[in-house]
Amino acid sequence: MNSLIADESSPYTWMNSARSAPPIPYPSIKIKLAEHFDILITRSSIMNKALHLPRPFTKPVWLQQLQWVADPVGYMETAARACPDIFQANVVGFGGGLVFVNQPQAIQEILTRDTTIGSRVGLYTAPGDLNRILAPILGDASVIMLDGDRHRRRRQLVMPPFHGDRMRAYGDLIGELATTAFDAVPLNQPFEARVVTQDISLNIILKAVFGLSDSGAGGDRFQNLKYLMTQVADLFHSPLSTMVLFYPGLQKDWGAWSPWGKFVRDRQKLDDLIYLEIAERRAESRTDRIDILSLMLSSRDDQGEPMSDVELRDELMALLFAGHETTATAMAWALYWTHRNPEVRTKLLQELATLGANPDPMEIFRLPYLTAVCNETLRIHPVAMLTFPRQVETPVEVLGYKLEPGEIVVGCIYLVHHRSDLYPNSHEFNPQRFIDRTFTPYEFMPFGGGARRCIGEALAMYELKLVLAQVLSRYEFSLANSAPELPRRRGVTLAPANGVRLVRSR
Ligand code: HEM
Repeated sequence: MNSLIADESSPYTWMNSARSAPPIPYPSIKIKLAEHFDILITRSSIMNKALHLPRPFTKPVWLQQLQWVADPVGYMETAARACPDIFQANVVGFGGGLVFVNQPQAIQEILTRDTTIGSRVGLYTAPGDLNRILAPILGDASVIMLDGDRHRRRRQLVMPPFHGDRMRAYGDLIGELATTAFDAVPLNQPFEARVVTQDISLNIILKAVFGLSDSGAGGDRFQNLKYLMTQVADLFHSPLSTMVLFYPGLQKDWGAWSPWGKFVRDRQKLDDLIYLEIAERRAESRTDRIDILSLMLSSRDDQGEPMSDVELRDELMALLFAGHETTATAMAWALYWTHRNPEVRTKLLQELATLGANPDPMEIFRLPYLTAVCNETLRIHPVAMLTFPRQVETPVEVLGYKLEPGEIVVGCIYLVHHRSDLYPNSHEFNPQRFIDRTFTPYEFMPFGGGARRCIGEALAMYELKLVLAQVLSRYEFSLANSAPELPRRRGVTLAPANGVRLVRSR
């Protein structure tokens, strides 16, 4: 029989919050209440007194929703102070209330049952329709918008270029692209690191994963694609500009100079380029291509039908968008923290020096301290604050609260990564945490989990490590000013508010 002893030193454990109760897999749970008391709670007794989910906010709903868009970090931290493990809140786009789950075992319960696998029936689903906030950018036919069998098959189709041996082949290219981008940064002038890292991550995904070339006949198209992708992504650069995503009523085309009007026009130009690329590839007779567009072009569904142009466009957009924005942000944060903490940078350089000249990219990838620095970067500033939403399908209990079919839950990655029982002084950048301790996949979860676990995790970690290693060994930077860089909403992600301003001195 399983038992779980709560750690009363932590403000996050359910023992310390009167209304919390243990996760469901434990038929009986021992709680160390005080030195001399042990109480045994059985699952049936919990079932009998299932509680209403705590709601930390009492402000008018419209104000709560606005705060969620304008200041998501403040919103989550305020809520977690009152309700550390689980709470329900009014967040735009999810009807009456979204259930935020911030406790690793409970998240594990959800993400390991978010789909039916064989005879194991899912208690939850991961409906694509719940991600419709992204539809203006991604359309509605990509893996992010699909669910059930179609979702599973599409994941299987698009996964291979992001894993295994294929990754090794990208290693040298990643190093070259990082050098080209940082060589172009002028000396002794402040620059925004995120702009440079976005250029690198976009180049990587366009060249390595999509098989596009920036030279020869396709050169102009490559540059235009890059330019338009950046324009479309940058519309959501701040909380204010992101409002249009959250409030569809604001999605009005008032002409080319209005934000939405410009977005619609840029998106159309981007679509034209993507459709042109698809048409040319369809007409091509080459059979040696192994990139993702070629894979999708040759795929057939159960009825033997190929993917339509719209499906291809949406999938390319989803992978391009999810694949470069997130990684660019992570790289910029890594540069920030390694320059904010010179001792971390020095230790990293010492580790890199042990590899000698021209190390193999896989050797770099496996370095323990580099891994710890990258993990700590994604821990302190998880780019994705939340997992994609999951929907309850069968009445279920989470931490003692009864959830009914139709309720929407998310794993709150940000709050898990700032639990003081797991990460003391969670706002301190301390890679040593990852050397001293191994965290479970639900305690450290920058890429989510379950049916929608990030497809690009391996590529993202590879890029992050190789670019950081290359840049630190080759160049010298300092922070352009001493003000702390804070996380700010960028679309549905969190990014450095000022893009990490650095000065290159070598
Ligand atoms: C640091 C970089 C990245 C972070 C932090 C990140 C994070 C995430 C998270 C949290 C999820 C949701 C998981 C869930 O709901 O459980 C996700 C899904 C996804 N990610 Fe990433 N990601 C990153 C890079 C990438 C890259 C490089 C690609 C592709 C090239 C990618 C493609 C996707 C896709 C397609 C999904 C949706 C999967 C599905 O719906 O089945 N991501 N990512």
